[in-house]
Amino acid sequence: MGTSQDNNIAIEVKKLTKRYGELTAVDEISFDVKRGEIFGFLGPNGAGKTSTINMLTGLCSISSGELKINGQSSVKKIQEMIGVVPSESNLYPELSGFENLCFCASLYGMRRREREREAGRLLEMFNLSEAADRPFRAYSKGMKRKLAIAAAIIHRPDILFLDEPTTGIDVASARQIRRLISEMNKAGTTIFLTTHYLEEAERLCERVAFIVRGKIKQLAETEQLLKGARKDNVLEFLLDRDITLEKGPLLEGLSDYRPVFDKDKVRIHTPCEMDIKYFVDIFDEWRYRVYEAKLIRPALEDVFVEITGIGPGEAEAGKNKGGREN
Ligand SMILES: Nc1ncnc2c1ncn2[C@@H]1O[C@H](COP(=O)(O)OP(=O)(O)OP(=O)(O)O)[C@@H](O)[C@H]1O
Ligand SMILES: [Mg+2]
Repeated sequence: MGTSQDNNIAIEVKKLTKRYGELTAVDEISFDVKRGEIFGFLGPNGAGKTSTINMLTGLCSISSGELKINGQSSVKKIQEMIGVVPSESNLYPELSGFENLCFCASLYGMRRREREREAGRLLEMFNLSEAADRPFRAYSKGMKRKLAIAAAIIHRPDILFLDEPTTGIDVASARQIRRLISEMNKAGTTIFLTTHYLEEAERLCERVAFIVRGKIKQLAETEQLLKGARKDNVLEFLLDRDITLEKGPLLEGLSDYRPVFDKDKVRIHTPCEMDIKYFVDIFDEWRYRVYEAKLIRPALEDVFVEITGIGPGEAEAGKNKGGREN
């Protein structure tokens, strides 16, 4: 398969750049995607995610830089090995779901019997069999997205690119799509996806890159980022009443532990190993009831905010205001 020197690398990018006139939307980015991994490409609106995915998949030209997929650099060869789910649908509104899939399959030279069999299989797999004969334009957003994924994988590509696969669709459909992505990956497909949902990236991606204004600011294993996100362990206790005034000062006196109070909630930060029981016993001694005690997991969201200086909430708000140009 391919002529890549390193068989473990699916996507190899060197100093890839996209310019639109004066604007440099993607600025000399370099990275590798390993075979078999789920790689997340994250960043705020206008960061250059779609421009990157479009260059990788041959949907737009490269201004400069190098790109190899499975060791190949010719667009034609690349397109045989990949599947693409663009952020906006690329299917025919007047054709039915079944016809759309068969048409896509024909582009890859699949025989009629095989086309129809695969289309049927995918419609079933995506719970779309009932809608198979309805025109695509009559599909809901979630159904459209699922059909777009089905269309992208009908030729069983090695690598699947998804541009914001779950944006704008309901929780249940998004969940189903995440499950499908994960299953395809387990079956051997390398996945490259962009997303605004950091929780999604956290759940799905082995490694993530953060792109900000066309440059990669950080690229690391999701696990590593999460570990580094906070040096501290954080325990949160929900008590039966406000502890701040009465016993708070006592907690503040404990070395290595930093309490943060919010009425009946106490968060305790520490660089040490966290011992829940130690604190439960203290509260018990002070006649406080502990309703809840939990370890707070540092989230990818914290990393994102740290790197981009942009709250994910703001990124979403910007999206609603600005709309999209492409
Ligand atoms: N066809 C185009 N012509 C001119 N400028 C463009 C074009 N497509 C994108 N841009 C600009 O390039 C920059 C990067 O856009 P891109 O769509 O790649 O961002 P993105 O990270 O996908 O954003 P979003 O999260 O909103 O999808 C933006 O400033 C955008 O306005
Ligand atoms: Mg985009």
